[in-house]
Amino acid sequence: MHDIIRQLEEKREMARLGGGQRRIDAQHARGKLTARERLELLLDDGSFEEWDMFKEHRCTDFDMQQQTVPGDGVVTGYGTINGRMVFVFSQDFTVFGGSLSESHAGKLCKIMDHAMNVGAPVIGLNDSGGARIQEGVDSLGGYAEVFQRNVLASGVIPQISLIMGPCAGGAVYSPAMTDFIFMVKDSSYMFVTGPEVVKTVTHEEVTAEELGGAITHSTRSGVCDLAFENDVEALALTRRLFNYLPLSNREKPPVRPNFDPAERTDESLDTLVPGNPNQPYDMKELIAKIVDDGDFFELQPDHARNIVIGFARMEGSTVGIVANQPLVLAGCLDIRSAIKAARFVRFCDAFNIPILTFVDVPGFMPGTAQEYGGIIRHGAKLLYAYAECTVPKVTVITRKAYGGAYDVMSSKHLRGDVNFAWPSAEIAVMGPKGAVEIIFREEKGDPVKLAEREAEYKAKFANPFVAGHRGFIDDVIQPHETRKRVCRSLAMLRAKKLENPWRKHGNIPL
Ligand code: HXC
Repeated sequence: MHDIIRQLEEKREMARLGGGQRRIDAQHARGKLTARERLELLLDDGSFEEWDMFKEHRCTDFDMQQQTVPGDGVVTGYGTINGRMVFVFSQDFTVFGGSLSESHAGKLCKIMDHAMNVGAPVIGLNDSGGARIQEGVDSLGGYAEVFQRNVLASGVIPQISLIMGPCAGGAVYSPAMTDFIFMVKDSSYMFVTGPEVVKTVTHEEVTAEELGGAITHSTRSGVCDLAFENDVEALALTRRLFNYLPLSNREKPPVRPNFDPAERTDESLDTLVPGNPNQPYDMKELIAKIVDDGDFFELQPDHARNIVIGFARMEGSTVGIVANQPLVLAGCLDIRSAIKAARFVRFCDAFNIPILTFVDVPGFMPGTAQEYGGIIRHGAKLLYAYAECTVPKVTVITRKAYGGAYDVMSSKHLRGDVNFAWPSAEIAVMGPKGAVEIIFREEKGDPVKLAEREAEYKAKFANPFVAGHRGFIDDVIQPHETRKRVCRSLAMLRAKKLENPWRKHGNIPL
């Protein structure tokens, strides 16, 4: 008996070594942790239950039967983060470059199936050379099995991807279908075709980092939600993100003990919005003053900065925040910001997270670049997302809410549950200057008259009361009381029930 037990321990020890000490050292020399070290940092101490440690590939081509490594390049199982269940996989670059074989894919599918059955998120740590070249179509089939599960799990359990090494070719599409992507600077990249192919086909010279590094995807493409300096930071922040999320769409988001009084007022909010409507202010300052303990977990902070998205808590409960940012492009909506916010709104809606929207939007961004780029379809995504959404929606208009953008930003007409405005709000079809130039075109040559008309328009429309008279705004509130009023609204909405009519699925303008 003792012998068998010892043999088991030896087998385990061998599996833990993956591709061997030389390759582990090479991994460390690149500033990367190993697959197992990463899981140790991600999960609560001692909580990891590993599955399929002894699983091997069954490929016999290219003498592969001579080269089997227990675990086959990925560590899988489940554990906890702050006591809450999560399924995980962590690709082991030291074994065949973390490449995906049929067996490797089977391990991923097994934990994804279980995660769906029990209702727990999946976090994938990606570090892979892609399809296992020796296995050919078996490997491609394995990828497709994973893709299929990514899609079926979408909106059922949260899925988070960390890119901590190579992720190229079709392999990018599994993370792409998950809810959040985090990347590590300098050691990870994602692209559909690498620099060599790019050079051959388009004659562009570009490095892997420029083409698909963490900075590229967290600024230009928006593929990545957050970029980190190293593995340790990425894993620590993944734990933080996880704390905001429900385990599945069957649950409400977690509530954590809160010591920030719901009634807390902040007088500085009364002077945050400048008197001059063309002068910007920082929407993130406003958010920090309203949410629990000023703690805001921003996503995509460097992409489409004219809109701010992220998670915070109000009285301990998770809320999703969407806010126009007057500091960037005056907070207008454009293609990138509409897509960024729409995707976030849909995530919140799928996972029962109430949405708190702060509005200061002068309208949609004009120009050929936007029109040719399809602002009509992309702008409609945000409109569609807000209109479709059935979770509690609380909206605060702090200043401008002009034109179609007023409608889009969680207005009363899109089933906004509670819509507040600050006294500084201006809710109208457009700004006073543009408006009088159109409706009083014949007086264009008379600047004095035009100025009078502008003042008249301002007095009439550049305020929240016209909307208030119609009930489109439920109340005009004192800025310093915003936290209190929002907390009460969210508490009132806690048991909200609203269902859309049955359909197979809608047809969001993709
Ligand atoms: C099998 C692979 C592999 C792969 C790497 N290895 N990629 N084995 N299949 N796809 C092995 C290497 O042979 C090597 O083994 C070890 O992993 C480390 O690789 P190195 O090349 O030494 O490492 P590095 O210099 O860091 O380069 C990493 C790399 C490179 C950039 C990922 O290995 C590479 O270009 N690999 C091929 C990538 C690729 O073309 N994949 C298929 C893409 S198509 P030893 O024994 O020496 O340690 C694809 C389609 C998916 O993925 C489709 C889904 C629909």
